[in-house]
Amino acid sequence: MMEIRIEKATTLKAKPDVSKIGFGTHFTDHMFLMDYEEGRGWHDPRIVPFHDITVSPANTTLHYGQAIFDGLKAYRRGDWVSIFRARDHVRRINVSAKILDIPEVPFDVVLDGLKQLIKLERDWIPQGEGQSLYIRPFIFADDPYLGVRVSKTYKFMIILSPVAAYYAHGFAPVKIMVEDKYVRAVRGGLGAAKTPANYAASLHAGLIAHDKGYDQVLWLDGVERKYIEEVGSMNILFKINGEIVTPELDGSILDGITRRTVLAVAKDWGVPAVERKISIDEVITAHENGTLEEVFGSGTAAVISPVGALEYKGREYVINGGGIGEFAQRMFDYIDKLHIGAVEDKFGFNEIVE
Ligand SMILES: Cc1ncc(COP(=O)(O)O)c(C=O)c1O
Repeated sequence: MMEIRIEKATTLKAKPDVSKIGFGTHFTDHMFLMDYEEGRGWHDPRIVPFHDITVSPANTTLHYGQAIFDGLKAYRRGDWVSIFRARDHVRRINVSAKILDIPEVPFDVVLDGLKQLIKLERDWIPQGEGQSLYIRPFIFADDPYLGVRVSKTYKFMIILSPVAAYYAHGFAPVKIMVEDKYVRAVRGGLGAAKTPANYAASLHAGLIAHDKGYDQVLWLDGVERKYIEEVGSMNILFKINGEIVTPELDGSILDGITRRTVLAVAKDWGVPAVERKISIDEVITAHENGTLEEVFGSGTAAVISPVGALEYKGREYVINGGGIGEFAQRMFDYIDKLHIGAVEDKFGFNEIVE
């Protein structure tokens, strides 16, 4: 396996008070870097001091967006340091890479680089309730070339950012607007990849939703505007008549790792959980006949996000009296404990760093 070179920073930054900073504003002392060149493959994996990078103004990512990223978290309690579902996230990097025709990264080198980086930066992992170190791996095409084609050079990087508890004022329900005009992705497109284009496509509808007083957008399928897809940065799950239902993976939504965790835990608890097509009409009907018990999002940032209200075609549907559902609360509490090793890791989700 390729050796990972380590160049340590000579001066270390002062660590911020995590409870006072927003998401993704502060970065640790070091980062991971690796290069790709056609004919040579991925090479020179290294951990170096965090620094700005330069790119050509003709950098192909700036113009055509051939790039991917992922997002995961490391947790610490004293000597216990773990990266949650690190292997699944590294595998997903390669799923996204394939969709964008980016050369796949060597799994073992990336996992090793990630663990060495976290080990080196362990003092940056905040230990307060709900706090963690957000990990952002990403790959971008690096050819200085204005032609539209698959790049011949790439950079893979991992940067780290300490983050506060998502729910600084307590676990709270969000209000979501069902979007029936704009679409995020279509089947056959890039929806299953974590790629900048999908986020660029979501910004305008997100702004409109914010202006109307909603936290996020719930996307419908891009063909019929009928089937539920996902939320801006979360997958969506419904509890209808005692059963958890979440949209199936059809190529237009992200295969969320938290979604997988929720499905695995629900099955372990004996709660029926299915992945299938679910239309917005079915959700509204369930609301009207009283069988829609809960709605919640799942994602690395918030873990579980109860939905207190849904807006669709000018009407607001209040879910579960606008409060936190019992299942969402139980799931949040359990995953929160899994993250910090406070319950037995029967699924093997924790990648122990030391
Ligand atoms: C579009 C989208 N869907 C779903 C998710 C949830 O995925 P995960 O649980 O892997 O964080 C995210 C966040 O990563 C996302 O950006």
